[in-house]
Amino acid sequence: MKLNLKIWRQKGPNDKGSMVSYPIENIDGDMSFLEMLDILNDQLVEKGDDPVAFDHDCREGICGMCSLYINGEAHGPDRGITTCQLHMRKFNDGDTIYIEPWRAKAFPVIKDLMVDRSAFDRIMAAGGFVSVNTSGNTQDANAIPIPKDDADEAFNAATCIGCGACVASCVNSSAMLFVSAKVSQLALLPQGQIEAMDRVKNMVAVMDEEGFGNCSNTGACEVECPKEISLENIARMNREFLKASFVK
Ligand code: SF4
Ligand code: FES
Repeated sequence: MKLNLKIWRQKGPNDKGSMVSYPIENIDGDMSFLEMLDILNDQLVEKGDDPVAFDHDCREGICGMCSLYINGEAHGPDRGITTCQLHMRKFNDGDTIYIEPWRAKAFPVIKDLMVDRSAFDRIMAAGGFVSVNTSGNTQDANAIPIPKDDADEAFNAATCIGCGACVASCVNSSAMLFVSAKVSQLALLPQGQIEAMDRVKNMVAVMDEEGFGNCSNTGACEVECPKEISLENIARMNREFLKASFVK
């Protein structure tokens, strides 16, 4: 395939940035999207140009690092996959492909296609954990019975990889889907009950401090989420928050 790439180039956080065209040839349909960018970068380095900076790590849909806005969609045109799982067979010979970073105030651009998602880390540090007594008398987790439906829902929420596509695809740059998945995975389990009230209040407070917007129920986050995290989690987080506001 012969393609015309239009890529966002930005030297640093304070640079204005612009779209730059890169024609590329001999792209195989079986290549992943990131392999295609690797080829472009090899060619740029050979010419003595600055390669395009983009985030990636596992390249198998687990780490949540690869985060590109491709032709106006977070993680590209497919559903239920990350950018690293996207294959070039989804595109046609002669296509123009627009590649941009996540755009949200709370995710400032570091360089080119890389953004700073440490706001998510700070939300997690505010409550995305359980405190466990590790004195040696810790109860075996398997000895605590959990209804199958709750275990399944907690597991589904726990599949969130923290990629930020929900924020990038939301008109309000809301992080509600991410935060609600993290609140839900613990709220559904007995192990998460002790700190449940503080957790939801603290995580929501940091989410607001970091500059994410409010949820207006458009549902774009659920559509673009590579792990198909359900909007049900947002409803659960709202219930948890309300409960905590009355009790605490
Ligand atoms: S909810 Fe989905 S889109 Fe949002 S961070 Fe988690 S995996 Fe990514
Ligand atoms: S590189 Fe890890 S999810 Fe894509």
